[in-house]
Amino acid sequence: QGTTPATAKDLFVVSSPNVEYTDDFIKTKYTYRTTAVSQGPNGNYVAVPKETLYDFKVDRKIPKVGVMLVGWGGNNGSTVTAGIIANKRGLVWDTKDGTQGANYYGSVIMGSTTKLGTDSATGNDINIPFHDLLPMVHPNDLVVGGWDISSLDLASAMDRACVLQPSLKSLVRKELATMKPLPSIYYPDFIAANQEERADNLIPGTKASNAHVEQIRKDIQNFKAENSLDKVIVQWTANTERFADILEGVNDTADNLLKSIENGHDEVSPSTVFAVACIQEGVPFINGSPQNTFVPGAIQLAERHNAFIGGDDFKSGQTKMKSALVDFLISAGIKLTSIASYNHLGNNDGMNLSSQRQFRSKEISKSNVVDDMVAANTVLYKEGEHPDHTVVIKYMPAVGDDKRALDEYYAEIFLGGHQTISIFNVCEDSLLASPLIIDLVLVAEMMTRIQWKTHADEADKFAGFHSVLSILSYMLKAPMTPTGTPVINALAKQRAALTNIFRACVGLEPENDMTLEHKLF
Ligand code: NAI
Repeated sequence: QGTTPATAKDLFVVSSPNVEYTDDFIKTKYTYRTTAVSQGPNGNYVAVPKETLYDFKVDRKIPKVGVMLVGWGGNNGSTVTAGIIANKRGLVWDTKDGTQGANYYGSVIMGSTTKLGTDSATGNDINIPFHDLLPMVHPNDLVVGGWDISSLDLASAMDRACVLQPSLKSLVRKELATMKPLPSIYYPDFIAANQEERADNLIPGTKASNAHVEQIRKDIQNFKAENSLDKVIVQWTANTERFADILEGVNDTADNLLKSIENGHDEVSPSTVFAVACIQEGVPFINGSPQNTFVPGAIQLAERHNAFIGGDDFKSGQTKMKSALVDFLISAGIKLTSIASYNHLGNNDGMNLSSQRQFRSKEISKSNVVDDMVAANTVLYKEGEHPDHTVVIKYMPAVGDDKRALDEYYAEIFLGGHQTISIFNVCEDSLLASPLIIDLVLVAEMMTRIQWKTHADEADKFAGFHSVLSILSYMLKAPMTPTGTPVINALAKQRAALTNIFRACVGLEPENDMTLEHKLF
């Protein structure tokens, strides 16, 4: 029988013979129900309900966690740091519209709720904060640090970013002024030449080397020791790099990649060097930019070390809308025929992306986001058929961090008619991206405390999830999945995966929205 009752910090307890609470763990026996389909000789399908029994074990002890940002002095880095301080201190500041208090709006973990179940007395839904579904770290308890090629302290970086209200800035300035990014690695060929001016905080050497990997590992170890941390998560929120060429013998396997770092090969990017250092250090590494940091050799290395990696590219504004809207249109049976996306932005990210090779990385990551939804609808689209899709990004200094995203969705409806939807989306870019940085840390950290085994396995042969954390997809534009597994871009499915995997870990069925209790009586 479900045993130890909820502690004061648990918002709920699951009472079930399949769920056991101990002081250290929540242990569940979970039946995963899927449908196995095969195709008969006539082309018809045979669908067979399938059950797999898993054991999950969730570590209930909430660790002290540090997050190290690569590109800490950038718009995202300075904004998320100021935002955490503002929340930690419960700050309230003046704006022209009145007073504003700190919050975590825009974080799916901190700002949204999820249905726990149905009230047995009234039949109404009981919704709880997403954050309370599992014993998660609170962002107010995160210790933030990191690296930047620019030496500005975080207070000056916040001024340079032009994101936050002056009244808020004055409240956090003193604390931010004490925060200084660690020197970083800078290989000029990988980011736009227009970034060179700010590169004054560098670890010597302009090509990959073992010394660079070692220095980054040492920085992580020092940060952990100085702040008495149990765990560190590293995230790349530095400039978008150009794509690295995938070359046989260079970055195609783990061993070749390690050799290429040792030999200072030109095609190894700074972000890949950070990834390798984190993998070797056993620290989760998440890539918030679009470039192919995770070359095949890096993925193989992560698998070898059972280290968590996630990416690519924060999904904050235009793409988030796209992955919701296209999901809606195509699942409504409306045939989307073209998407034209224009962006202009005036922050440093925009300046970096005004360079062709860096723009190309962004163009690629923004382009594939509707593929799975199109491929899934074989009624509307013939095999290989795809809506036209174009992405334009222009640097327009005047609009600063307030990126403009203009999208036209053009679709074919009943009997040859057309529907045209135009969206003008003003995204305060760093204020949208910062809560995603927090979500990525919280979910990645949570995943380090979840283990599973199949029922058939011996008593205590638990393992972690696969190295490639596709559960982070909701927050990422071009989600990485384990090699050979499908990519899901549809936003609702991504959120359902996150919710239902968390539910499974406490022995609850997936939320299916059938509400038969309100239909069959
Ligand atoms: P930013 O340009 O303000 O900040 C980037 C920082 O990285 C700069 O301070 C720069 O000095 C530093 N940097 C560059 N190379 C470095 C290296 N090798 N090591 C350490 N630091 C390095 O850019 P922002 O707006 O903060 O965006 C960061 C990244 O996140 C960009 O790649 C952007 O494309 C991506 N992103 C941002 C989104 C958003 O803001 N809504 C959405 C999706 C992705």
